Amino acid sequence: MPPGLRRILFVDDEPKVLEGLQRMLYPLRNEWRMEFVSSGQQALECLARSDFEVLITDVRMPVMDGIELLTEVAERHPQVIRLVLSGTVDQELTLRSAVLAHQYMVKPCDAKTLRARVEHALNFRVVLDDPGLKQLIARLRSLPSMPAMYVKLIEALQSPDASVREIGAIIEQDIGMTAKVLQLVNSSLLGISRRIAKPGEAVVYLGVDTVRALALSASVFTQFRSAGLPGFSIESLQEHSLKVGAVARHIAKTLNWPRIATDDCFVGGLLHDTGKLVLAHNCPDLYRKALTLAQQNQVAIREAEREVFGTTHAEVGGYLLWLWGFPDLITEVAAMHHNLPDRPSDAIGPVAAVHIADAVVNRRVEQDLDQGHTGVLALMEHVPEWQAFSEDLQVQH
Ligand SMILES: [Fe+2]
Ligand SMILES: [Fe+2]
Repeated sequence: MPPGLRRILFVDDEPKVLEGLQRMLYPLRNEWRMEFVSSGQQALECLARSDFEVLITDVRMPVMDGIELLTEVAERHPQVIRLVLSGTVDQELTLRSAVLAHQYMVKPCDAKTLRARVEHALNFRVVLDDPGLKQLIARLRSLPSMPAMYVKLIEALQSPDASVREIGAIIEQDIGMTAKVLQLVNSSLLGISRRIAKPGEAVVYLGVDTVRALALSASVFTQFRSAGLPGFSIESLQEHSLKVGAVARHIAKTLNWPRIATDDCFVGGLLHDTGKLVLAHNCPDLYRKALTLAQQNQVAIREAEREVFGTTHAEVGGYLLWLWGFPDLITEVAAMHHNLPDRPSDAIGPVAAVHIADAVVNRRVEQDLDQGHTGVLALMEHVPEWQAFSEDLQVQH
């Protein structure tokens, strides 16, 4: 077998779906070695005899369903990346499989998307292979499931004719969520001059991705409300995240980055510290220990986390966002916001913007900014202005 060939196993009980996939993915035959089977049992046999890297399975299947298969594979072959390609609209099944799988995709899925998802999953394995992170994940009582509303949003957004009104309507179904999203949207930090009264309007003003991220962030923060640790306030973390998003977006605007990168900066900033919530929520005792350690030794919380957990909130947050199928860039922002990827300055974009925004908002430019990185170094001349922008935000708020 030529080196670099990816080994992918597809499982679906519908012969037509398998044929369709086979035909659609034929052009990838030089990159992927693919096998197609029609039952969970056959899939397990294949996995036992040959080393596959990725499993892509349907959820609703007779005899052994996707949930059972994913559970078995997680146990017997934990190194195999588990992706779901689901046609079911059953909420319950969707959520259960989304938690068991590394990523969740909705049928029909074109070759380009499928390929991008698989490549992303394989690339992200670098972070997944972090031994500290692996141990921690094994220990977590429960990984927060993808919020139901978010699953619905992904589904709606996959359809090319999803209208602004439909997307607004999905958010509106959840009253608590609507209130939270509107509170965030109308926060002075976002700088919209008029009052937004409906999620649909928010979509018009801020774009779908931003509103989706706001909705997700609102529901993530709501899920974790109970942590209750001294020295750790969910409210201040949420405010911090919103400020980092706002400053990162301002950085992108200063540098005349395209709209899409500007949105990514905002979304990335909003979600960059999600890992802190996961750690504090799942391991409150250990997180308390990390907080005390950081205070006593006057070190950054990420250093104390590494000491206690063997990994930091950055990797954990990146992992969770990846699990939830966020775009590569957003998961990268979360996973690498303290340790920037080793890439030239023009290819680092939103990761650098969020890194800088985080240091600026925390008023820790001296301590936290990676000035040895060429991507950051190239932007240093702007930092005083960004600091001033951030200070203005803090006053306004
Ligand atoms: Fe952080
Ligand atoms: Fe932060």
